Amino acid sequence: MTSPPQVPDRRDTDAFGERVLSAALGMTDMLAIYLGDRLGWYRSLSADGPATAEELARRTGTHPRYAREWLEQQAVNAVLAVDEDRRFSLPPGAEEVLTDRSSLSYMAPLARMLAAAAGQLPALLEAYRSGGGVSWSQFGADARESQADMNRPWYEKALPEALKGVASLDVVLSRPGARIADVGCGAGWSSLALARTYPAAVVEGVDIDAPSIGLALGNAAASGMTDRLTFRCADAEELAADSYDAIFAFECVHDMPRPVDVLAAARRALAPGRTMIVMDEAVAESFSAPGDELERLMYGFSLLICLPDGLSHPPSAGTGTVMRPATLRQYALDAGFTGMNVLPISAFGFWRFYELTTAPV
Ligand SMILES: C[S@@+](CC[C@H](N)C(=O)[O-])C[C@H]1O[C@@H](n2cnc3c(N)ncnc32)[C@H](O)[C@@H]1O
Repeated sequence: MTSPPQVPDRRDTDAFGERVLSAALGMTDMLAIYLGDRLGWYRSLSADGPATAEELARRTGTHPRYAREWLEQQAVNAVLAVDEDRRFSLPPGAEEVLTDRSSLSYMAPLARMLAAAAGQLPALLEAYRSGGGVSWSQFGADARESQADMNRPWYEKALPEALKGVASLDVVLSRPGARIADVGCGAGWSSLALARTYPAAVVEGVDIDAPSIGLALGNAAASGMTDRLTFRCADAEELAADSYDAIFAFECVHDMPRPVDVLAAARRALAPGRTMIVMDEAVAESFSAPGDELERLMYGFSLLICLPDGLSHPPSAGTGTVMRPATLRQYALDAGFTGMNVLPISAFGFWRFYELTTAPV
């Protein structure tokens, strides 16, 4: 006997309709933030003060009709404030989130990451059909710069204290001449933070993406630490066997097509008894649905960026952003590490720190 078709409860339908509508509002918010960020409108409102549409357009070399529409949309959405002369301003809370590049609350770059994904939707559809991928370089400057700008405040403000709080690691990194590698270093902000935190150490950043290394070299030159901070464009799978005292991988193992090969190269490159530190997403131990905001965000990034990036260079493990601790542990064991610990670093953005251990000397 077949069961009668289920009639949806009107309240469920209305509630789900509301959810989709608020997602549409969220999406328009993010794309409008992208415009305001990339056109320099938020920065001008912050640096030069409140403005009418004409004034903002003049200051930023943009078109006044578009500036008016955007300003009104921002005010209607309670992002900007507006006075009776139609002069628009950035309230202090929004100002920090949208323009303060040094703040742990800085989130304008998030819009750039989502816009980078939106720009590749035709390629994503093709990848989803064929099993192919969309590479990090194809996502382009928006993704690369978003990544760098989102993580920079965490490396500059929170990483030093976090590492100092792990005594066993701090002792090793503090030794004169300690050799540190930072694989998948992107624009190099983590490498700069390591070099600044450990002034007696020598730090080498490695990334496979040439434009990222270009950014890192520029950032290093401005830091005045180039005597002991270098960057190299290379595949971390080819990290030469060497005597590093620590190898870091910040938010990149889940993107790598062959994470076990990279971890194995890192293990061979470590001095005896030394460890590798992997910072990756602090996702739950196992899948459960519905998930919390972090799981939802990470699955979102996985769909749109990280999984297609990982699958763009076959053969690939196809890890995706939601790399569970058990997955990394297995990668580490397959790569020849003897074990994996979670380091006692808590409340560090979206991330968790893992230590991959080698046999004691
Ligand atoms: C999500 S970004 C993270 C960048 C940086 N660590 C950060 O925290 O901002 C991932 C980086 O890993 C790099 N990457 C991926 N596979 C790599 C490999 N096999 N060797 C070196 N770098 C790699 C990418 O080019 C990209 O810059």
